[in-house]
Parts: sequence; structure tokens; C-alpha cells
Amino acid sequence: MEVESILQKLNQELLQASNPKQLEVIKLNYLGRSGIINDLAQKIKEIKPEQRSEFGKQLNLIKQEVTKILESHKIKDSENKLEIDNSIPDKMPSTGSLHPTTHAIFQIQDILSQIGFVRKRYREIDDDWHPFKALNMPDNHPARDEWETFFCENGKWVLTPHTSNGQIWEMENKKPPIKMLNITKTYRRQISPKHSPMFHQFEGLYVDKNVSIAHLKGTLDYFIKGFFGSNRETRIRPYHFKFTEPSFEVDITCDVCKGKGCKVCKAGWLEIGGAGMVHPNVLKNVGINSKVYNGFAFGFGVERPYMMKGDINIPDIRMFYTTKLDVLKNF
Ligand code: PHE
Repeated sequence: MEVESILQKLNQELLQASNPKQLEVIKLNYLGRSGIINDLAQKIKEIKPEQRSEFGKQLNLIKQEVTKILESHKIKDSENKLEIDNSIPDKMPSTGSLHPTTHAIFQIQDILSQIGFVRKRYREIDDDWHPFKALNMPDNHPARDEWETFFCENGKWVLTPHTSNGQIWEMENKKPPIKMLNITKTYRRQISPKHSPMFHQFEGLYVDKNVSIAHLKGTLDYFIKGFFGSNRETRIRPYHFKFTEPSFEVDITCDVCKGKGCKVCKAGWLEIGGAGMVHPNVLKNVGINSKVYNGFAFGFGVERPYMMKGDINIPDIRMFYTTKLDVLKNF
């Protein structure tokens, strides 16, 4: 069998080939069903039985060689001789998308600005006064323990564990009437599917004359229906915070059981955040006369309420901050 001459011929043909189509034709000529190699294989019948094994070996050798040569040309071809077809649309650059937390923040801001709340962004690293002392939590008060705080430089600075420090900053710098929405990062020493050590909160504060719990309830209802849908109900439950009196926890009806009671909720209700009427001591701490003015405040997380929306599938809060594109690209 003329192995050498077959390989030589193949190399010559390949030298003349200048595009992938020609390469494909050559491949078929050699390796195809009625190609040169299969034709040779047919000849085995004409060969004397004692020479057949040698013939078979040669045939395999040539097949391997031809395949190797063609493979190496494929690579060269795509590297060097790619034909450019100008009519094919170019690959679109990847444009990315907004992070789910940003989506949530924009929605919150949109809804609350419709009823006059002005977006602010107060400190994430703060002194002791704004997130604690001015909020009616004196040094060593046990309520401070509820906030799982990260302290820096022996307590000189804190990574703010809630957005309520924004109430103090706002009232120190502005006279009533005040309608503030503070959205920032917050930090707590907790990690679980429901807790991320860094998360976001938003805080509403309204201070004016004759503000009542009815105003608070109306504002909460407006937000909840805007964010979750008009079928969701809100309730406030007595609770305790040092900086509000009276204080409440805010619940919304569960979307899974529609308020009937199921595994994911407590008797039809899901807890969403805290609220209350601004404590007179807090007003005093920022120089506002509590005999003339009063107000309400509420503070909710950003990621957790977003996870509670019916059409959002984020089962673990830590997924927000994994930077895994296959998760984040869904938003
Ligand atoms: N700051 C409270 C928290 O993080 C929530 C809250 C805000 C409660 C405003 C009352 C008023 O839990």
C-alpha cells in the first residue's frame, strides 16, 4: 500500500485549501463513507490471506495519520484563515443588569416618594450617640444587646446595626416638618439563610404637629400594597423599642396561605419590621419640643421583604452577596 504517497497527496491538497468548506470536502474525500480510506479497506478481499493482517495494520496507520493531519489543519484554519462574512450580526456585548438589592431600593424609594418621603443616605460607620445613646439607649442598657453590633476601636465607632441613626442625623440638621427615608447598609453579627452580616434597611421618619398612629398605619398600608400588591393586609402588634412609644411590630398577610395559616407564616401573618411613635426623649435629645411636635418612625429590611414578594425566588439571603452571575443575572 502506498501510504507515503497518500499522505503526500493529502498534504498537497491541504496546502491549496483556503477555507473551512474546502477542508470539509477533503475530509470527506479521505474519511467519508466512499472516501479513499474506505475504498482501500474494500480491497482487503483481493489480498492473499497471509498478507491481510499486515494490510490491516497499514490501513489503520494511514487512517490515524490522515485524521491527525486533518485535525491539525482544523485548528490552523480557524485561527488563521477564518472567512469573514460581514452579513452576520456581531455578538452583542453583555450589558449586565441591576443588582436585586438595587431593584428593591428603587421600588421602595418610588413608592414612599409618592407620599412625600425624601431619600437620604446616612452613615454606615457611626459614633455611639446616633445609633444608640440619642435613641434613648444609655450606656450599658440591655436593649443595646438586641442589635448584635460590630464595634470598632473599642466601641468608639460602630458599623451601624440599624438605619434608626438616620432619625437623629435628620432631626439634628432639619426642623419639622420632616419626612425622611433613610436607606443604607446595616451590619449585624449574624449569618444564616435569613441573616447576612451586611444587609440593607430603610427607615421612614415623619415629624410634624398632631401626628397619630392612624397616620403611621395608613403609611404602612400604602407601602405594603404598593410593594407586595393590593391584596396584602397590614397589622401592627404591640412591641418594645427604646426609641418609640408606643412601639409595634409590623406584620403582613402571608401570600402562600392568603392569611389562613401555613408552614411559612405565623397564623397567616409574616413579620416584616418595627415601627412606633417617636419617643419624647428622642425628640428632646435633638432639641425638638415634644409638646409641639410628635412623629412616627418605621424600619424594615430591604432584602428580606424583597424575598417575600411572590415572584422572587431567593430562598437564602446570602445569595444576594455571592456575586454568582448565574443567580444575579435573573434580575
Ligand atoms: N431600628 C429597629 C430595628 O432595626 C426598627 C425600628 C425602626 C423600630 C423605627 C421602630 C422605629 O429593629
